[in-house]
Amino acid sequence: MIQAQRVSKIYTRSGARVRALADVDLTVERGDFLIIHGSSGSGKTTLLLTLGGMLRPTSGAVLFQGTDIYSLTTGKRAEYRRRHLGFMFQKFFLVPYLTASDNIRFPLVLRGTPAGSQERVREVAERLRIDQRLNHLPAQLSVGEQQRVAMARAIVAGPDVILADEPTGNLDRENRGILAQFLRDENRRGRTVVVVTHDDDLIRLGNRNIQLVAGRLDGPRGDDRES
Ligand SMILES: Nc1ncnc2c1ncn2[C@@H]1O[C@H](COP(=O)(O)OP(=O)(O)O)[C@@H](O)[C@H]1O
Ligand SMILES: [Mg+2]
Repeated sequence: MIQAQRVSKIYTRSGARVRALADVDLTVERGDFLIIHGSSGSGKTTLLLTLGGMLRPTSGAVLFQGTDIYSLTTGKRAEYRRRHLGFMFQKFFLVPYLTASDNIRFPLVLRGTPAGSQERVREVAERLRIDQRLNHLPAQLSVGEQQRVAMARAIVAGPDVILADEPTGNLDRENRGILAQFLRDENRRGRTVVVVTHDDDLIRLGNRNIQLVAGRLDGPRGDDRES
């Protein structure tokens, strides 16, 4: 479904060059629950952004259902993201002046607010137990609540693929369990899930598990572990 082909990413900033990814080959199959782990700075976020069409690799290609997404125009690539992907950022990036409800609804607004949008927002919020917080602004929510709002926003439009960057990093045990169950249910409904995480509850759900070490996939083609 998503294929990374010899993907490398070098960040250059004020003369310094940081090689964040080196020749990563990876295939994400439809229906996968893929776990990405690795120590801090190993390139996990860079890989997720690259797979999600948000960060152009320095070399190599990312194919989605056979299309090289970085050969698309910016507009076409944005449309592809809207239609197919749900992304949950490590730093959430909620819109500070929109309520939780309006933040979650945002991807539906981009799709022209289809019928049933309000019900869809409520249903997702209930499953993530943030339905009592829908009228609050992000600043009025706990970090764990903000994280679940970000997850709700990632999923609300029913994407084919969910990409989530440390989605339980700020949650207590109970809410980690809620979120893990949520992702498992979405995966069982047919969505492909790619998660950067160190959380054992999530790792257990994965059908594949890859590790990044200094920007490289550890092991032959990053394969593979059955669980
Ligand atoms: N925008 C950037 N500019 C320069 N260096 C960056 C940038 N983003 C990440 N890096 C560097 O790239 C490496 C990989 O970062 P990242 O993908 O965020 O790792 P991880 O998510 O595994 O912690 C790190 O050394 C980080 O400092
Ligand atoms: Mg990261």
